[in-house]
Amino acid sequence: MRIDVVTLFPDEFRQLVDLGVTGRAIREDKIQLQTWNPRDYTADRHRSVDDRPYGGGPGMVMMVEPLAETLEAVAEDSSIAAKVALMSPQGKVLDQAAVEALASRQRLILICGRYEGIDERLIDTLVDEEWSIGDYVLSGGELAAAVIVDAVSRLQADVLGDNRSAEQDSFSHGLLDYPHYTRPEDVAGDKVPKVLLSGDHAAIEKWRRKQALGRTWQRRPELLDKMELSKQDQALLADFINDLT
Ligand code: ADE
Repeated sequence: MRIDVVTLFPDEFRQLVDLGVTGRAIREDKIQLQTWNPRDYTADRHRSVDDRPYGGGPGMVMMVEPLAETLEAVAEDSSIAAKVALMSPQGKVLDQAAVEALASRQRLILICGRYEGIDERLIDTLVDEEWSIGDYVLSGGELAAAVIVDAVSRLQADVLGDNRSAEQDSFSHGLLDYPHYTRPEDVAGDKVPKVLLSGDHAAIEKWRRKQALGRTWQRRPELLDKMELSKQDQALLADFINDLT
């Protein structure tokens, strides 16, 4: 997958390139990440990318021209057609289903806004979609774009060590994750649930499903409203609730 990021702060993407799962995916060429700085596509001596807002008010607004020039260069750099996405708190809120849809594309073009925002005419003419990573305001779209790069990278084939890890993620089946344990078996009297030591894989799977259902019911009940629970899941959840009392 190829990912082009339009940003005034390309250094903010260094850690994705240098570290962890994304770093390895990039080194192994499973992800091609390229940054583009609108400042390199300016015509004036000061390399201006922003100006004061018409109508007054605080802050600065990113101008159409440098961004449009940058996007033209991005488009010309590869024959793979792609939607242009703007990172913005006004966008559709990202969830795992959206991440999976983005991960299946061949190419992403992500624009990071800065300052008070971007001239609306650029959005009207050159932006195809807007994504928010949550209902809070960041000082720029860079962290949001980094979130998308990370989340889509780990879904690419052979990026995670064990391909099942992505399938077992929280949310990949609409539920929160079940609890995990590792050695030692006993931490100051706090023991690992017995079933996990039983070697009975069917019982372990059932326990994990029950915990995932129970936690989702406790912490994010609205996620369950979106699902159609099987008879078996309903029984597991009833069991979980029953165990609480
Ligand atoms: N830019 C500023 N805040 C943002 C958010 N919550 N999501 C995406 N881009 C942003």
